[in-house]
Amino acid sequence: MAEATSSFPDFRRFHHHRGANYQTVLKNAHAFLRPDWYLEVGVNTGSTITLAERCVIGVDPNFKFSADVVGKKEKLFLFQQTSDAFFAGTDVPALAGGPIDIAFLDGLHEAEVLLRDIFNTERLCGPNSVIFLHDCLPGDIYMARRHQFDAEIRKLTPHPATWTGDVWKALAILQKYRKDLTITCLDAGPTGLVALSNLDPHSTVLPDAYDDLFAEIQAMETTHETLKAFLAACNITSTARVASEAEMRETFGLKAA
Ligand SMILES: C[S@@+](CC[C@H](N)C(=O)[O-])C[C@H]1O[C@@H](n2cnc3c(N)ncnc32)[C@H](O)[C@@H]1O
Repeated sequence: MAEATSSFPDFRRFHHHRGANYQTVLKNAHAFLRPDWYLEVGVNTGSTITLAERCVIGVDPNFKFSADVVGKKEKLFLFQQTSDAFFAGTDVPALAGGPIDIAFLDGLHEAEVLLRDIFNTERLCGPNSVIFLHDCLPGDIYMARRHQFDAEIRKLTPHPATWTGDVWKALAILQKYRKDLTITCLDAGPTGLVALSNLDPHSTVLPDAYDDLFAEIQAMETTHETLKAFLAACNITSTARVASEAEMRETFGLKAA
């Protein structure tokens, strides 16, 4: 996988997200859009799955709960496995009896894995659903390093705790090949939040081209210049644009409830 170590130690953070924290935006999405079914890939301690109140599916190969994950939820299904194993082995429509209304994809931070999570989730959605992506708008190349514990790169970073991986490349693929989607890039701290709407559960564009897209991802470099150009083209918008139900529905192009 190409990683431009030659450009280190150019660790300037060229983009700071100044909007609300991503969890605030997610909390608002639950309050405004009131999903019947919520899917979270990458649950970890449970801090974001607790925001969901009704029927919930959580997927993570290694749950580390420190929150009251059950709360008052009507239904809660937990799958302690990778997202690939979950999507391959679970009949979600039979489980849920309807579409996933909101999904939050925050699992393994590798671009091709996120790409698979996106098209496997879109199949389960309806036209009025929203898929949120975490970490796709990293502010510098250190947080965007491919491998979380890359010691050589990590020792150079002023903020080693922040790791987005290279999932921004999956967003670049969507921007290029799925122009039918509504893609809203929000300046949510600390590493951005992206909302995908106008989803098409019948689209096969991404899975049909997966091998070529994987090769394209492998050829992309994470340099100061490539990432800066990518972010500049993302049309990042303020979280203030989605601060009420009407604004969120309008921005994402969702029908009124
Ligand atoms: C950044 S954490 C999720 C944080 C959580 N969503 C939040 O906002 O608090 C990423 C999680 O992805 C999980 N993970 C790693 N590989 C995965 C995979 N292949 N499929 C699903 N989840 C995975 C990790 O175990 C980890 O708990």
